[in-house]
Parts: sequence; structure tokens; C-alpha cells
Amino acid sequence: MPTQEELKALVGRAALAYVTPGTIIGVGTGSTVAHFIAGLGEMPVPVAGAVSSSERSSAALRDLGIPVLDANDVTRLEVYIDGADEIDRSGYMVKGGGAALTREKIVAALATRFVCIADGSKVVDVLGTTFPLPVEVIPMAANAIIRRFAAGLQGTNGTAELRRTSDGSVLVTDNGQHILDVRGLRITDPMAFECAVNDWPGVVTVGVFARQKADVCLVGTEAGVQTLSY
Ligand code: 5RP
Repeated sequence: MPTQEELKALVGRAALAYVTPGTIIGVGTGSTVAHFIAGLGEMPVPVAGAVSSSERSSAALRDLGIPVLDANDVTRLEVYIDGADEIDRSGYMVKGGGAALTREKIVAALATRFVCIADGSKVVDVLGTTFPLPVEVIPMAANAIIRRFAAGLQGTNGTAELRRTSDGSVLVTDNGQHILDVRGLRITDPMAFECAVNDWPGVVTVGVFARQKADVCLVGTEAGVQTLSY
């Protein structure tokens, strides 16, 4: 029985098949993407460059000699490769476990095709039920947003708390903002949920990816890579 890490490596490497050598691609963030980045470094004809969704991924790309471009200097990417915390049967996702959700949505929006790479544990029937939903917020709005989730308007009832680092300090994102993690949700209409929460004052981005959903998901299973297209 392969470990979760082995399944992440399997799909990370499988995603290389979606990369055209010599092009500029979008690269996400996380432990699954780390395997993909390692594979990029071994391509016989490398990519021309990457737009990355985090400082962490940018550093890993640069370490391999892959040029990192500013999103402002790119109009279109052929493909964006990233992981997910949850993905449902329609390709809608919860993302942001690595606190990179806002940049992930920005880079995903530049790409023609979103290829999600996930081990089988990430596939769910209903979003919000197995992984706390990350929401990036402007610090001064955090408590008001926590109260909005507690009030549960628009099907958004959940318990939100500020994400902290291992030393107990409040986590600060690459954008200088904070993350709320929301538990106890059942997101039955991801598109409506994303629009509603994104509209709350002080929300930078909600980690529901409905408008920027996956086009393809490579799922790592005991039987190998399963390819789901939406
Ligand atoms: C980072 C993300 C990641 O894609 C998500 O958390 C999955 O991470 P991992 O591949 O480490 O399981 O959204 O913000």
C-alpha cells in the first residue's frame, strides 16, 4: 500500500505530461507541487519560466534555475498545476492549506487549463466537510468575519479561527494578511458560496475554487494515476 507521500510524488510527476517544454507555466504551492517542481528540474528541455503562487515555490523554482516571472508580465498561461485540500466530483476545490490561496487564484485565472494533482484522500462528496476552509482576510476585519460565519447567513454557518504558526504567533501570508480556518461547513453550492463570502468586507479571498475550478484532476490511488476531466 503506497504512502500518501508516494501518491503525491506519483501525481506530481504525472503532471509533467501536461507541460510543453519551452513555455511559461503556472506553478502552485504545497507538498504535492514540490514533487512536480522537482520533476521540472529534470526535464531534458526545460520550461522557459514560471509564474508562481508563493514565495516558497518561487524559491524552489529558482534553486533549479527556472526563471520566475511576475504575473503582471504575463497575459496567458497554457497550464496551471496545483494541489488541493479537497476536490469534488465537479472539479470544485477547497484550497489554501499552505496559505497561498489568493495568489493561487490569481495565477489560476491566467491559465487556460487548471491541472489539479491530489492523492485520493482529497476527493470528497461535499466541500468543507473534511478540511477546514481557509479564508484570507484583512487583519482588522478578522473578528467581524468570524462573527459572520457564526451567524451562518447564506448557508455559511461554521466555526472560524485565526491560523497560527507552530510557535503560537498569528500566521502572516505572503500578502501580509491573516488566514481564518473555518470548520463545520457543508458547501453544497460552491459557486454561490464563493461569491457570497468573497463579497464580505475584509475578505481578500475565500479558499473555494469554483470559478477557477480544475479542468483535469490527476488522482493518486493504489491502482495508479486516475485522470478525471470536468
Ligand atoms: C496551498 C494549497 C495546496 O495546494 C493544498 O494545501 C494541498 O497541499 P499539499 O499538496 O501539501 O497536500 O492550496 O495553499
